[in-house]
Amino acid sequence: MNHDQLLREFSDFLRIPSVSTLPAHNNDCRAAAEWVAAELRRLRCHDIEFLGSETHPVVWAKGPEVPGAPTLLIYGHYDVQPPDPLGEWTTPPFEPTQRDGRIYARGAADDKGQVFCLLKAIAALPRPTVNFRFLIEGEEEYGSKVLFDLLKREPQRVAADAIVVADMSYVAPGWPAVYTTLRGLCYAELTVRTSKTDLHSGEYGGAAPNAHEELCRLLTRLKGEDGRINIPGVYGPVKRPSKAELAAWKKLPFNEKDFLTKRVQGKGLVGLKQYSVLERLWALPTFEIHGILGGFTGEGAKTVIPAEATAKVSMRLVPNQKLKTVERQLEAAVKRFAPKHVTASVRFLHGADPAQIKLDHPSFKLLDQAFKQVTGRGTVPARAGGSIPVVPALSSAGAPVILTGIGLPDDRLHAPNEKLDLKQLWDGIEVFRRFYELFGGVRS
Ligand code: BES
Ligand code: MN
Ligand code: MN
Repeated sequence: MNHDQLLREFSDFLRIPSVSTLPAHNNDCRAAAEWVAAELRRLRCHDIEFLGSETHPVVWAKGPEVPGAPTLLIYGHYDVQPPDPLGEWTTPPFEPTQRDGRIYARGAADDKGQVFCLLKAIAALPRPTVNFRFLIEGEEEYGSKVLFDLLKREPQRVAADAIVVADMSYVAPGWPAVYTTLRGLCYAELTVRTSKTDLHSGEYGGAAPNAHEELCRLLTRLKGEDGRINIPGVYGPVKRPSKAELAAWKKLPFNEKDFLTKRVQGKGLVGLKQYSVLERLWALPTFEIHGILGGFTGEGAKTVIPAEATAKVSMRLVPNQKLKTVERQLEAAVKRFAPKHVTASVRFLHGADPAQIKLDHPSFKLLDQAFKQVTGRGTVPARAGGSIPVVPALSSAGAPVILTGIGLPDDRLHAPNEKLDLKQLWDGIEVFRRFYELFGGVRS
């Protein structure tokens, strides 16, 4: 198929604002699921089903049967993150626009562009080489509850010879990667209450407790200025990468100074200075504050002592931390660090265990070959700082989960002006097409 036609079809997918976390977009999520299903129909799939009724459906399908051929399960997600702040987009997030060989839109890289490559690579095969299965979900960006429940009820859905998850990026331009770990996640709201209602800051200020002040103090107790998380027990199970792995990371095309100036575009890096930046990003837990709610934030000035304040926070987890344990540790620390005059509570929104993948299955070699044949370089093993909640469940039936991707590190996932380089898109289709051939035993 020619590139113009492919770009038109990709743009149709990108135009659907399938933001899974915002109920106002429920119909759009449905429309994105329909887009995927129509694509699967075109690939002559059968048993196309929308699974899980509560929220956004998981799209399931089986490809045309190829007797004797191995089975490959394709995972991806059609949902995207909210696009705000809208004012910072050069062109609107759901009006895909090409500039300088890139396509700009929310979801261009995460994950619609990669789902697009996986599907169009099948369309590009002269004839099917493997038995495809598809699980394309619509709630990855909100914790994957629907898919978790589905796999608990029907674990045989993940029976396959291998599973491909293309929701990551190259480690650098020209450097495709395969990932050995994903961090887990523990997302929570911390709320402190200090009085029954808000109070006049003149009448009460100086003697009454202030919820925002107490929340700030609580947050800084949970993580110190040096970047250390002071929640008792969190670092206990954390396993340091081996010497060999740390040495291999030194050979990756990653430069701490470039990371600061070109990617973070800030004035300095933070965190546990005794560890390399890659170790901080890939192999250590984090504690981040996403937003603080409560009190007066309107226009103008209001002299009030807020009675309640809430922080949205999350922790990234690494092998061998467990979500359930970390939840308990966080809750205990919040209760312990809050002074007596403060009522502190924790509400967990979603989470995921970290994932760890061994690269010893033969299919990893095939992916390496496919990348080498198309891009000139094979896959380097790396770790990922992000999370894909369902990955541990995908591997529960024993199939190797191949974590890879065709994006670049500067694609600005979850941020304004998310993009995908068109070269990555075209190469991506070729790479997966070649991988499907190799996986099905086709020689070149
Ligand atoms: N594709 C990302 C995960 C990712 C990003 C892996 C970068 C490796 C490198 C995925 O869509 C994502 O954003 N996941 C969320 C999960 C969460 C909302 C449960 C994340 O990591 O924040
Ligand atoms: Mn993703
Ligand atoms: Mn994402």
